[in-house]
Amino acid sequence: MEDRETRKEARQERELVFRSMTLDDIGTIVQIERESFTAPWSEEAFRTELTQNHFARYMVLERDGTVIGYGGMWLIVDEAHITNIAIRQPFRGQGLGERLLREMMRTASWLGAKRITLEVRVSNDTAQSLYRKAGFYPSGLRPGYYSDNREDALIMWAELDPDPGAADSETAGASETSGGEGQA
Ligand SMILES: CC(C)(COP(=O)(O)OP(=O)(O)OC[C@H]1O[C@@H](n2cnc3c(N)ncnc32)[C@H](O)[C@@H]1OP(=O)(O)O)[C@@H](O)C(=O)NCCC(=O)NCCS
Repeated sequence: MEDRETRKEARQERELVFRSMTLDDIGTIVQIERESFTAPWSEEAFRTELTQNHFARYMVLERDGTVIGYGGMWLIVDEAHITNIAIRQPFRGQGLGERLLREMMRTASWLGAKRITLEVRVSNDTAQSLYRKAGFYPSGLRPGYYSDNREDALIMWAELDPDPGAADSETAGASETSGGEGQA
């Protein structure tokens, strides 16, 4: 008899798609941004990222054809900097944020990055727990980094696996900054 867990995993594999963010995604992305962050990025910020920032790579996670999460990063020489990552509220706690983060890390490595960094609010225990699970370690504070409440940011870094396997070719070509503080 086929193992139920195996079938469940196989079904999840078929339903999940990682791909580059496009301009058509921005409406949905801004909705997720608003339900996820106290100082959400604007539509214009994402548009600028996708069209003018040649260092930027943004990807979305689709489940059954619907965008349920996204993440972005800047790739500069051999370092990647995660700008934001979010999963739509009803889909949280199912392992999808971790899948997305690991896909971003694989893509960054595939594009030549050796290390990856991010800032996270000192109060955001959930995200910090996710990052630690994925191999990030804390390396300092940026005092008063977040402009909405002057909260400190914890700086985290992770070393990237130099042989990440074949990253999805769709996600490897993702696009472009707003220049402001990141969400992640
Ligand atoms: C942070 C976020 C992306 C995590 O996505 P998610 O799909 O809910 O996370 P996952 O289900 O993949 O969980 C992966 C790990 O994250 C941590 N985590 C997830 N939910 C958690 C919770 N409610 N409390 C504590 N840790 C939690 C755990 O370490 C978990 O691993 P475990 O299941 O083995 O314990 C999601 O909560 C989110 O979008 N939050 C709002 C936006 C945000 O804060 N982004 C980060 C900015 S720095």
